Amino acid sequence: MNTAANPELAGRPDGWWRSAVVYQIYPRSFQDSNGDGVGDIPGITSRLEYLAELGVDVIWLSPVYRSPQVDNGYDISDYQDVDPLFGTLADLDALIAAAHQRGIKLVMDLVVNHTSDQHAWFAQSRDPASAKRDWYFWRPARPGCEPGTPGAEPDDSHAAFAPSAWTYDPASGEYYLGIFSPGQPDLNWENKDVRQAVYAMMRWWVDRGVDGFRMDVINLISKPAELTAGGPIEPGQGSLRRVANGPRLDEFLAEMNREVGLDEHNLLTVGEMPGATVEVAQRVTDPARHELNMVFTFEHVNLDQVGWNKWDLADLPLPVLKGNLASWQDGLAEAGWNSLYYDNHDQPRAVSRFGDDSPEHRVDSAKTLATVLHLHKGTPYIYQGEEFGMTNAPLTRIEHYLDVESLNYHALATAAGVSEEQVLRSLAAKSRDHARTPVQWDATDNAGFTTGTPWMPVNPNHDQINADAARHDPDSVFAHFQKLIRLRHSNETVQEGRFQLLLPDHDQLWTFTRTHGDETLLVVANCSSEPVEIPTDGLPRLDGAELLLGTHPDAAATTLAPWESRILRL
Ligand code: GLC
Repeated sequence: MNTAANPELAGRPDGWWRSAVVYQIYPRSFQDSNGDGVGDIPGITSRLEYLAELGVDVIWLSPVYRSPQVDNGYDISDYQDVDPLFGTLADLDALIAAAHQRGIKLVMDLVVNHTSDQHAWFAQSRDPASAKRDWYFWRPARPGCEPGTPGAEPDDSHAAFAPSAWTYDPASGEYYLGIFSPGQPDLNWENKDVRQAVYAMMRWWVDRGVDGFRMDVINLISKPAELTAGGPIEPGQGSLRRVANGPRLDEFLAEMNREVGLDEHNLLTVGEMPGATVEVAQRVTDPARHELNMVFTFEHVNLDQVGWNKWDLADLPLPVLKGNLASWQDGLAEAGWNSLYYDNHDQPRAVSRFGDDSPEHRVDSAKTLATVLHLHKGTPYIYQGEEFGMTNAPLTRIEHYLDVESLNYHALATAAGVSEEQVLRSLAAKSRDHARTPVQWDATDNAGFTTGTPWMPVNPNHDQINADAARHDPDSVFAHFQKLIRLRHSNETVQEGRFQLLLPDHDQLWTFTRTHGDETLLVVANCSSEPVEIPTDGLPRLDGAELLLGTHPDAAATTLAPWESRILRL
């Protein structure tokens, strides 16, 4: 068992993450320091003061490891080095030290469902005689088919970002599994040497001073015996479903926890889990089982789609969204813990998706969405730019898109006969590129992101919407986030209070209570662009209630303005 000698370990009291607010940095788009148009680690270090001003406790750093960048770093070729695009290991050490000096912790992204096809492990695995052959999934062609010919793949599974989950390797005449893309071969966690290699790597990072791990698609690591087989499936993320929440998931997570000392060192652990139900989360986050602290559910971000296909757009009535979050609050009320998020590097911008990003309502809807999320029980995650209300980008032509997932969907769907117009409509609503435009620091040409040419164009609305303007405006979205973070830090009911959804069927109001000891907080939020009369039925009496935080000045009015919200102490 590893005992890390890093003095920073002393700075993580039991359960510290229960009152923490996490801020996700997607390094490529955060801050460039050397003018090459790509964000980097020294750029992040130069913005720590801003994060301290916002008040967040933890940075989750999306991958900065060595990578061919097929999936912007989620394809790792060396887990123990930094990609030159982002800087050096020394830069990362300096970032961790500077963050710790300000009391900010740093959580690494851990991508171990798959490696890059350029990882040394995979290079060795290509040789059928190698001891590493079994570290990945190799299969012969479909019986009766000539290996390498169209249709000879072992089964019909799609990859998330490529037509097939199987890639032919002519040297051995076999196929390997990559459920995301051919550049991201899946590791075989059944092999204990794979697991030990991953744990050793994680211990190395713990010794380096990191405070936890955000685990990429971690519920896909235990593959069912039949792997992806089972007939044709829809384009989109169809194949993931077949390998999610496999039979040994809990066993592997508990083993990882033990061998790396995740709980022993009070590390923050959050598992990204597409297809995980609240029952899976109950098991995984039950502290008695020593698996993970919390998971990222996909349920609420999959509600505006039909089935498993994110591109098949569906309307999302408010009762469905708030009901889903409430079911997770209820499901994890006794044991376990929630993570709370709308936004990340894979999702469109919350204010454009769930709010109203018109000039009239953008600020209020960003604030009210934040009020609602941050008053749920769990650990809130803020995605870069969300804290001052960044919006989706005006992406209208296929040439505007860069992301591997979007480009693959466009190619597959148009080839299958879906109209260009419909494909572009889905992309405009859901593409991951919306989250990846550079952070809008100020109103200057490249928004203060780079002195060079940004790898992805800056959203033209940065002349209005930027961090600098928000910081200097006491009524800004940024100022509201600061207050929500302070409230979480100072108020035990916000941290630990029991959640109860009220008026579950109301189409415009999102309202709930949080109760802890003698204190009850009530949140009333108008999640619509029309005024709403506060009902007298179904809500506690409001007279005498104390306003802790509101979005509008007249907090006594019985009508809520569009996107007005109030946090009241009853
Ligand atoms: C996760 C990441 C996403 C990535 C995928 C494959 O969903 O968040 O960005 O493309 O896993 O690693």
